[in-house]
Amino acid sequence: MASLKSSAAWKALKAHQKETARVHMRDLFAEDPDRFEAFSLNRGGLFLDYSKNRITAETMALLMDLAREADVEGWRGKMAAGDPVNASEGRAALHMALRHPADGGPVKALGVDVMPAVREAREKMGLMAEAVRRGQWTGETGKPVETVVHIGTGGSHQGPAMAVAALRPYHQSGPDLRFVANIDGAQITGALEGLSPETTLFIVASKTFTTQETITNALFARTWLREALGKGAVQKHFIAVSADAKAATDFGIRAENTLPVWDWVGGRTSLWSAMGLPVAIACGMDRFEDLLAGAHDMDRHFLEAPVDANMPVILGLIGIWNIDFLGAGALAVLPYDERLAELPGHLRQLEMESNGKSVTRDGGPAQAGNAPVVFGETGTRSQHTFHQALHQGRRLIASDFIAALENPAPAPGHHRILLAHFLAQSEALMAGQTKSQARAAMKADGVKGEEAKTQLPHRVFEGNRPSNTLLLDRLDPFTLGQLIALYEHKVFVQAAVWRINPFDQWGVEHGKDLAGPILAELQGADATGSHSASTRGLIGRIKAGKAETP
Ligand code: F6P
Repeated sequence: MASLKSSAAWKALKAHQKETARVHMRDLFAEDPDRFEAFSLNRGGLFLDYSKNRITAETMALLMDLAREADVEGWRGKMAAGDPVNASEGRAALHMALRHPADGGPVKALGVDVMPAVREAREKMGLMAEAVRRGQWTGETGKPVETVVHIGTGGSHQGPAMAVAALRPYHQSGPDLRFVANIDGAQITGALEGLSPETTLFIVASKTFTTQETITNALFARTWLREALGKGAVQKHFIAVSADAKAATDFGIRAENTLPVWDWVGGRTSLWSAMGLPVAIACGMDRFEDLLAGAHDMDRHFLEAPVDANMPVILGLIGIWNIDFLGAGALAVLPYDERLAELPGHLRQLEMESNGKSVTRDGGPAQAGNAPVVFGETGTRSQHTFHQALHQGRRLIASDFIAALENPAPAPGHHRILLAHFLAQSEALMAGQTKSQARAAMKADGVKGEEAKTQLPHRVFEGNRPSNTLLLDRLDPFTLGQLIALYEHKVFVQAAVWRINPFDQWGVEHGKDLAGPILAELQGADATGSHSASTRGLIGRIKAGKAETP
C-alpha cells in the first residue's frame, strides 16, 4: 500500500490546494448562488452548513476519493461488527452498542453478543437512577438522598458533566448533583461543604477503579462518611460504575450497587453506558433513553448514508482539508448557548485523546494529520476573549459554530441578539473586510484624515477563515445525542484516513505511571537519581518549603 502522502488521492488534493490557494470564499459565494444548498445537509433536528469553508465541488470530490482510498466505509463496518479496531489493546470499540435499541437485535464484540449485558445494565441503571431521583433511595439513617457527589475523571467525568449541564431545562425534581474530577483537595472539600453525610450519595465512576485521582477522592469521601455514620454506611451511600466489580467490592461497595462498563467501551465514549448515571438521575431515565436514541439516529446515518451525503464523513474530511492542506492546526468550538459551556472540554478530550497520535495503527510513523488543538468557549464570551486571533491572527484557526433555534430562558430578547452575534462572527471570518469597506466603516465612525490613515491597515480583515455551522432545532436529549455522536464519528473518520488507532491513549497511561516515584520522594523517600536536574531541583524546593506530605 502506498504511504498516505504518496497516495493518488493525497497528491491530487495537494495539487488542488496549490491551484486554489488564492481563491477567496467571498468570490466563491458571489459566483455560486446555490453554494449554501450545495454545502449543507440535515439529519433530524441537526443541520450542518459547511459552505463557509475554502472548498469547491472539486475539493469535496477529491476528499471523497481520499475517504474511499482510506476505506472509511470498510473501517466503519469493522467498528460496527465489533472487530478489534483498537488493535494495540486487542479490543473492539462498541460505543454504538450502548445506544442500540433494546429490541434491535444482537451487536457483537469479538463475536460475542453484548446486548444482553447492555440491556441488563440499562435496566439496573434505570431502577437505581429513578430510586435516587424520586427520594426512594435512603441512606444509613433512613433519610432520602439530597445530594449526589460524582467522583470520576477524564471520560468518566467529562461526558456526564457536559450532558447534565446541557440538559438543565429537562432536569426533574431530585437531588442536587456535584462533580469532583481533580485531585486538588480544594475540589472534594468544596464539594462536601455544607452537606450532611446522612443525605449524601457518592458515585465512584472509574472504568479501571485504579485511577489515582479518583480513588484518592473516593477514599477521602469514604472517611468523611464513616466518621459520621460508621463503617457500614458505605453500603448505602456509595455506587460504583466500573469494569472491575471486584475492586469496587474490595472498596466496600455492594455488588448490587455496582454498575458495569466493559473493555470495549472507551472512556471518552462512555457517556452512553452507566457512566451516564448522573444524567439519568438529573433528567429521568426516559430522557437518558432519548439521548441514546439521538446518538443511535446518528449511528444509523453514519452507517447507512453514502459518504458524500454523510455528516460525520463530511465534517471529518473538511477537518482534514483544514488541518493537512490549509495548515489550520487548531479548532475553536464555539457553542452560542450557555447550556453547552462544557462542550468544548468534552470535544477537546474526544479529539485530542483519540487522534493525538504520531504512530500509525501498524506501528509506523504517522505521516500526516493529528488532532487539532481544540479549545473553545461559549459565544459571546469567546468573542471578548480570543476571537481577535481568529479574525486577524497569523495562524489559521478553523471554527465550529453551534447554536439552537430555541432557547427556553425566560429572557425573550436575548436569544435573537445571541444568534445575531453567532451569524455575524462566521460571516466576518469568511468575508473579512476589504480596504474600501474599511474606509466606508471609518467614514461611518467619523474617523478621518491622519487618524484614518493610521487605522486603515488595522481595519482590513483578510477573511477566508473556515468555519462550520451546526444548528439544532432545539437543544434536547435527542439532538444532544445526535451532536455528540456526530463528533465521535467525525474523529473516527479522520483516524481512518490518517491510519491511526483513535481508541487507545498510551500517552495518558504513561502519565498515570509517572507520578508514583515522585510522590514517594515528596513523602520522604530518597531521590532515585533518575530525574533531570530540573525535576530534582523542583522536588528539593517543594520539600524545603514543607509542602504537605500526607
Ligand atoms: O484520561 C485517560 C483515561 O484513560 C480516560 O480515557 C478515562 O476516561 C480516564 O482516564 C479515567 O479512567 P478511569 O475511568 O479508569 O478512572
